[in-house]
Amino acid sequence: MSSDWSILSLPKVELHLHIEGTLEPQMMWDLAQKHKISLPYDSVQAIQDAYQFSNLQSFLDLYYAGTNVLRDADDFYQLMWAYFLRCKEDNIVHTEIMFDPQSHTHRGVAFATIMQGFNKAIKQAKDELGISAYLIMSFLRHLSEADALNTLEEAKPYYQDITAIGLDSSELGNPPDKFTTVFKKARTAGFKCVAHAGEEGPASYIRDAIKLLNVDRIDHGVRAIDDNDLVTQLAKTNMPLTVCPLSNLKLCVVNDMTEHNILTLLEKGLRVTVNSDDPSYFGGYLNDNFSALKQALNMTDAQAIRLIKNSFTASFLPEAEKEKWLAKIDGLI
Ligand code: ADE
Ligand code: ZN
Repeated sequence: MSSDWSILSLPKVELHLHIEGTLEPQMMWDLAQKHKISLPYDSVQAIQDAYQFSNLQSFLDLYYAGTNVLRDADDFYQLMWAYFLRCKEDNIVHTEIMFDPQSHTHRGVAFATIMQGFNKAIKQAKDELGISAYLIMSFLRHLSEADALNTLEEAKPYYQDITAIGLDSSELGNPPDKFTTVFKKARTAGFKCVAHAGEEGPASYIRDAIKLLNVDRIDHGVRAIDDNDLVTQLAKTNMPLTVCPLSNLKLCVVNDMTEHNILTLLEKGLRVTVNSDDPSYFGGYLNDNFSALKQALNMTDAQAIRLIKNSFTASFLPEAEKEKWLAKIDGLI
C-alpha cells in the first residue's frame, strides 16, 4: 500500500483507542528491565511473536499481563507520549483515549500515579504537537458493578480530567444490564458515556447499551448487521459506531478483511468511524486501518472522507471546533 495516498495526510480524529493497547514490545521489554520484572519472553521479538489470537479473551489475557510493567508515573507518561508521537505521524489532531484504571489499581498502582503520567503527556501534546486529547475511563465488564462504582468514586479528584466513561473487556456473558447503576451515576456526574457492544456479543447487547446505559457511542457495533431493525434505528438516530478493522481481523471477528462490513454499514447510512483499538497488538495504527480498507474493500476516497468526517462529528469536541475541522477538510479535498 502506497504511503503517498493523499487521504492519509488529512486531519483525523481517533475515538476508540486503549492506551494500554499501545504498549509496544520494545517498551514492555525496557520497562520490565527498569523494574526488574521477569517476562515470560526471552526477547522483544518473542513478545511480538506471541501476538497471535483466536478470540477476544486470548488477546485480553496477554494485554492484562502486559500492563504489569506499568508501575510509576513516568511509565504512564512514556506510554501516552509515544502514542501522541504516532498520532502526529498519522495526522491525528484530536483523540479520545480509553484507559482501564482497574487493571492498574488492582495491582497496587495508585489512581494518582496513572493520572500524573497521563496529564503530563496530554499537556505536552497540546503544547508541542497541537494535538488535543480527552480521556475515557473504562470499566472492566468481567469485574462486578460494585467494583466499577468504587472506581468511579476513586476517580473523584480527577473528574475534571476525564470526559467520558466506557465499558470494555470480556463481552460475552457480561451484558450491559450488569452496569446500569454505574452508568446512571456517571451520567448524573456529567460524563459522556460509551460502551463496547456487538464486537463478539450479539446485536441485543447494542440495543441494551443504548436503552439501558444511554450511551453516546457504541464501540465496535459490527454485529448490528444481524438485526435489520437495529440497523435502521442506528441510522435514524445517527448513533456513532467506532469500528476497528485490524482489531476485528486479528481477533477473528472477521475471517478476512474482504468480509468486513464497515462499508456496508456506511452505505446503509450509519455514522461509522475507523479506529485502531490496540494498535501495538493488532498490527497497525489509524492510517494502517485506512490502508487495509482500501486494499481489501476497494474503499473509495469519497468513502474514506466520509469516515474521517464522521469521526469529527461523533467526537466530544465542542460543535464550533468540529465545524472548524470539517471546513478545513473541505478546503483540503
Ligand atoms: N480492551 C482492550 N481492547 C478491547 C477490545 N477490543 N474489546 C474489549 N475490551 C478491550
Ligand atoms: Zn476496544
